[in-house]
Amino acid sequence: MKTRRNFIKLTALGSAAIFTSSCLTSEKKNVTVSKLQKDIKKPIVISTWNHGLEANEASWKILSKGGTALDAVEAGVKITESDPNNTSVGLGGLPDRDGKVTLDACIMDHENNCGAVACLQDIENPISVARKVMEETQHVMLVGEGAKQFALEKGFKETNLLTEKSKEAWEKWKEESKYQPVINSENHDTIGMLALDESGNLSGACTTSGMAYKLHGRVGDSPIIGAGLFVDNEAGAACATGVGEAVIRIAGSSIVVELMRNGMSPNDACKEAVNRIIRKHKDLANMQVGFIALNKFGEADAPELRALMAAGFVLFLVTLLVNFIANIIINRTARKG
Ligand code: GLY
Repeated sequence: MKTRRNFIKLTALGSAAIFTSSCLTSEKKNVTVSKLQKDIKKPIVISTWNHGLEANEASWKILSKGGTALDAVEAGVKITESDPNNTSVGLGGLPDRDGKVTLDACIMDHENNCGAVACLQDIENPISVARKVMEETQHVMLVGEGAKQFALEKGFKETNLLTEKSKEAWEKWKEESKYQPVINSENHDTIGMLALDESGNLSGACTTSGMAYKLHGRVGDSPIIGAGLFVDNEAGAACATGVGEAVIRIAGSSIVVELMRNGMSPNDACKEAVNRIIRKHKDLANMQVGFIALNKFGEADAPELRALMAAGFVLFLVTLLVNFIANIIINRTARKG
């Protein structure tokens, strides 16, 4: 059985360390952390789940050559979106209960520019459409048919996203499910990616096909700025994975970033957000939520609901053992030194 321990992978690439000695402090009085420039770990990229390992490699190619965090996160998550074997993101994603693959994605940069698409069909790389919304419109989010029309106008190709494998799984689900969507800890594995580049700028991307067999039109946390993703260059960036409804209810990623601004470590900030979800939900039996966070200094962490439950919620011990295989992964790629 897989465990959290062997899920966690740390990849250290390259060897150049950064040696400057100026002190980075925020103008905001309530930021209590300051660091010597040489102690800032940059560039660095982190992502969720095991599919993030390959995505990190693509990002690292850009970051290690001095590229921007924005380019890196887009290039990284596109790898997962285009992987037909991944059934929770982009091409090959499990469809909604009507057999339609609908995609949600958002992207955000160090200047609070952001773009998103929700319930987008037939376009393989929603993250790139989200970037176009950010860079080439005055809006933040486009949804459904409007998002597709915009993508086609921008030259994206129409693609059938329902692979044979996903279609078979959906047909099997239909036989057993009585057409009832189920929220549980197994059927949603968003890829979230956060990067800090050589210039000290943060960006993030988040993309998913959402909860398998959802109601047609359902949108989760992943395309919602402040829920699935939030970036504030003064403080840090955060991204969520898991049951989107729970993340939206607490504005998850923006809370994590705000807590980091107030001086919390990424680890403590993520834990507090997860604890907030625990406090606000009576039924946690089929719930899984995790956050990854990266602060301005290149420090990163990723606590998630099941792990916190192990620490204090004996009631859920049995569920914990059953669900431990679904634990969150955090992949880090950073320079050594
Ligand atoms: N976090 C992905 C979703 O709920 O759609």
